[in-house]
Amino acid sequence: MARISSDDIERVRAASDLVAIASQSLVLKPSGRKLKACCPFHNEKTPSFQIDPQLGLWHCFGCGEGGDVFDFVCRMENVDFPDAVRLLADKAGIELEEDRSGGPQAPKGHKERLKDVCDAACDFYHRELMRSPDPGAAAARSYLASRGFGSAVCKRWKLGYAPGRGKLVAHLKKQGFTQAEIVDANLAYTYESKQGGKSMGPLRDRFYERVMFPIRDRAGRTVAFGGRVIGKGEPKYLNSSETLIFHKSSNLFAIDRARNSITNNARAVVVEGYTDAIAMHEAGIDYVVATLGTALTQQHVRALRSLRPREIIYLFDGDNAGQKAADRAVEFIDQSVTQEAGSAFIDFKVVILPDNQDPMEFVSSKGRDAMLQALDGAVPLIRFAIDRRLDSWDLNSPEQRSLALQAAVELLATIKTSIIAEDYCNYIADRMSVRGRSCDVSTVKAALRKAKPQTAGAQAAGSGADQQPRGMMPASDSQIARYQRELLALALRYPLVQDELRADLSGIDWEAGMPAAVAAQLFPSDGGSGLGFEGGTGVRDVAGMVAALESRVPGSSRYLSSAQMDPGDDQAAALQAAWEMCFALRIQALEETIRQENLKLRDWNSLPQEEYDTIFQHVTDLQKELRDMRLRADRKRIERKG
Ligand code: UTP
Ligand code: MN
Repeated sequence: MARISSDDIERVRAASDLVAIASQSLVLKPSGRKLKACCPFHNEKTPSFQIDPQLGLWHCFGCGEGGDVFDFVCRMENVDFPDAVRLLADKAGIELEEDRSGGPQAPKGHKERLKDVCDAACDFYHRELMRSPDPGAAAARSYLASRGFGSAVCKRWKLGYAPGRGKLVAHLKKQGFTQAEIVDANLAYTYESKQGGKSMGPLRDRFYERVMFPIRDRAGRTVAFGGRVIGKGEPKYLNSSETLIFHKSSNLFAIDRARNSITNNARAVVVEGYTDAIAMHEAGIDYVVATLGTALTQQHVRALRSLRPREIIYLFDGDNAGQKAADRAVEFIDQSVTQEAGSAFIDFKVVILPDNQDPMEFVSSKGRDAMLQALDGAVPLIRFAIDRRLDSWDLNSPEQRSLALQAAVELLATIKTSIIAEDYCNYIADRMSVRGRSCDVSTVKAALRKAKPQTAGAQAAGSGADQQPRGMMPASDSQIARYQRELLALALRYPLVQDELRADLSGIDWEAGMPAAVAAQLFPSDGGSGLGFEGGTGVRDVAGMVAALESRVPGSSRYLSSAQMDPGDDQAAALQAAWEMCFALRIQALEETIRQENLKLRDWNSLPQEEYDTIFQHVTDLQKELRDMRLRADRKRIERKG
């Protein structure tokens, strides 16, 4: 591959909006002319990550990371600079010079070489498995066949066999790979490199007499291997160690084959074993990835998030699946599970398969449809964890009741003020009302107010979680009032604002009194043209407007003083500010209405079914409106930059 020219890099930079890219994986909130979010690169609950959209730069004041859009992609996708450029070029539909034909050949980066050597090793192992007369290879073939993986499956997944005895090293050296490359890719080691020293001395194959599962990155390049012992033995799986190109906390097995399907189905399923993932894909369920001997991490979730799933279903296997699921829950309960996350919302769910089966056993014995049914029946992870915690106490004993309550609300501590937390308070109250003992929602809420987040990360980040502002600005009533006043002043002063934002402004729930009275003049709800529209959208006689308004709404000229004092005449900037406030107000109003409606649903058992359904539908519609509003707000911000 050729070096990417600096012209190309600049073209890609110009076409890549940092805000748009970042908002695919972060919940960005406007803060002045910047956007804020919780930093994706360290664990925190109060946002110290900032983007300056004008400059196209980001910086985290918590961990000190920062840079431009390329740096962001490098960190986020765990790729090197050229790959970040390629990724963004791909998104922007820009064809890089290097892709067309052989430009001037430049030496490849080290990471690129490590992927090359892994790809070469994958080919070698695969050929060994498919063709070698070696009894070890034959044993590998029959082992795989006995697990239901015939030669077609082996080919599709490029499974392999590692013979050991230095055969891989010899092969790779013949292909021109250096000792350092082979060692750095963790395909072989020397005695010294194993002790952490320099790689001198004879190389030994890292994997021998194992069935090899190649692990690929999103682009389909091999970056690591999992090697399974044939039959019984320890360790059952030997995985590549961490290398420059492989991190088990962020790489996922089968991501290259699952990525399109995850996007298309808006669903990702996470399993724990290579064989589980393969069996699911082979059964035609192909939005499945596997973790690599670790639990799902936040980095994994980030990798998945960029594929835009609406739900991530965690399919646990083994004896203590339920316990594992409950333990993991806390890790994933953060802003992204709240409706306030808007387009970044992800529904975490969990499936525990019956009879201790793992996904491979289940799908092989019960078939695809049964598996799909199980997936459709996935339980929200939060609810599951709450149930588990409540179930582990005796809800008839007064002391245990309070401990149970504490344990349950702890799960919600990081999302205290969200709508979903309120919903679950209600759920907890319900579940705790047993055998004549009742439990008030207010009791649950009081317990939640006192609850502290539990994860290690939250503890490290301090206690800022409680004060974290929810949703978008404005947070308080006085702020709402200020926004409304400023918006009206802007509309009065700038015909452009009055004109452009007309539909959105008339959708605002203006506060009674002065705001509503002025708004009625500027944006009549009967669709009339309103004060000021007669004059067209040219330069406005502000004094004349104020006088006309004052005669209709006495006191309005004082109320709108800022419109008259404002020396600025930057229409574009004014429009921009107006958009921000307008969206913030509308989003805030929608959130509030949703909250109110949800409150009504609390008393679901006393509501007639029909009424319940109507409210429920209304909430769903409002939520959709909210999501759309947020998308529009994002888009506006992107347009503005472009
Ligand atoms: P399992 O023990 O459930 O294996 O471990 P499995 O996937 O069902 O494998 P088969 O079907 O017996 O071959 C699940 C995952 O945990 C990791 C591997 O990634 C494995 O796929 N693991 C397991 C290890 O990393 N090391 C081990 O020793 C065992
Ligand atoms: Mn298993």
